[in-house]
Amino acid sequence: MNSQSNLRFIAQPGGALTGSIRVPGDKSISHRSIMLGSLAEGTTHVSGFLEGEDSLATLKAFKVMGVNIEGPENGNVTIEGVGMDGLLAPDEPLDLGNSGTSMRLMSGLLAGQGFEVTLIGDESLSTRPMKRVTDPLASMGAEINTTPKGTAPLIIRPVDGLRSINYDMPVASAQVKSCLLLAGIRAEGQTCVTEPAPTRDHTERMLRGFGYEVETKGNKICLKGGGTLTACDIDVPSDISSAAFFMVGASIAEGSDLTLQHVGMNPTRDGVISILRLMGADIEVLNEKEVGGEPVADLRVRSAKLKGICIPEEYVPLAIDEFPALFVAAACADGETVLTGAEELRVKESDRIQVMADGLLALGIDITPTDDGAIIKGGQMASATVSSHGDHRIAMSFAMAALRSSGTITIEDCANVNTSFPGFVKLASQSGLKVSES
Ligand code: S3P
Repeated sequence: MNSQSNLRFIAQPGGALTGSIRVPGDKSISHRSIMLGSLAEGTTHVSGFLEGEDSLATLKAFKVMGVNIEGPENGNVTIEGVGMDGLLAPDEPLDLGNSGTSMRLMSGLLAGQGFEVTLIGDESLSTRPMKRVTDPLASMGAEINTTPKGTAPLIIRPVDGLRSINYDMPVASAQVKSCLLLAGIRAEGQTCVTEPAPTRDHTERMLRGFGYEVETKGNKICLKGGGTLTACDIDVPSDISSAAFFMVGASIAEGSDLTLQHVGMNPTRDGVISILRLMGADIEVLNEKEVGGEPVADLRVRSAKLKGICIPEEYVPLAIDEFPALFVAAACADGETVLTGAEELRVKESDRIQVMADGLLALGIDITPTDDGAIIKGGQMASATVSSHGDHRIAMSFAMAALRSSGTITIEDCANVNTSFPGFVKLASQSGLKVSES
């Protein structure tokens, strides 16, 4: 999907982050707005849609399946829903690029459709584990082929209806939960998913927004198949995962005072704030309100002296995408930070434990990767060339690290930043980060 895999970020040392900015729209909510809007009856208007490659891959896939979608234009998207049975068989494989969310959620959504469809992705997505969704879907009666390694391409064949399932998820994954709920809306009877720990609940919230009843009792989420979705308007808040780079940057860079506007504050996503606060960060939550069923606030972040901590494991699923940035915070903290219970980081867009450890080691930080986390001793970062391994969040985290390094940090393989944060370099530069592309 990206033609510029050799794109580099050059981040010069020092600087501070100041001003008031709005980072792009939430990726998880943007994906779901296209999926549910397409299956709904009526016209759905979305504002604040993330115009990044991942959510655009979802948008394009639904267009290929015959959904009339206008935009995005300045974050506005209009979707003419086709109803539960209105999708058309695509005559080509659906290319989902780098996007695990598209592939895992769409495998559930498409498992009960009456047509054959193949889901493909880029090199990274083609190595990510898919059995976690195809196994439970198979017990619902779906027919989905993976490679022998359990990876994409996924070939979904038409079946005669789906059975409901009562599934205890072995991993805390919102993608698995959402996949099964989206399959469950087409299945006969009541589908229930129990999660080992709370994960992001955007699917449940948005289904309710579209008028679909979803019952949540503790860690068990249930819905009955056979219902319909009614179109609605969706205001996508700024992505807390994109805001996280700036929260870390403003915390570590002396003299920073940065406000992040309209950030999604869903309690299943705010682990990064809890962890940074435990480390001593100064984050003020202002103008709290609710927009379209999701809490939103402005965050004022001022520089602070961070200290190393043992990260409580219950925060891990609530901050699962923020660990690359948090590793940089830990590298700038006094003392040792210990992360455990985060083995999922090894199967993200890259092996985030190893790739962050390699980069921080190159910068002179004492970090020991473990199977399920890392031990990071705060210290002075020097100058180095590091590789993001095509992982957007690694690239942006190392860019922020330059605020505290003694020399230039060159980051290789940064084109995928466009999957989640188009305009990152421009917005970060405006805020005071000395970063450019080459
Ligand atoms: C997502 C869930 C998380 C997260 C990903 C987006 C979602 O993945 O890492 O970036 O939108 O449901 P897992 O559910 O695999 O943890």
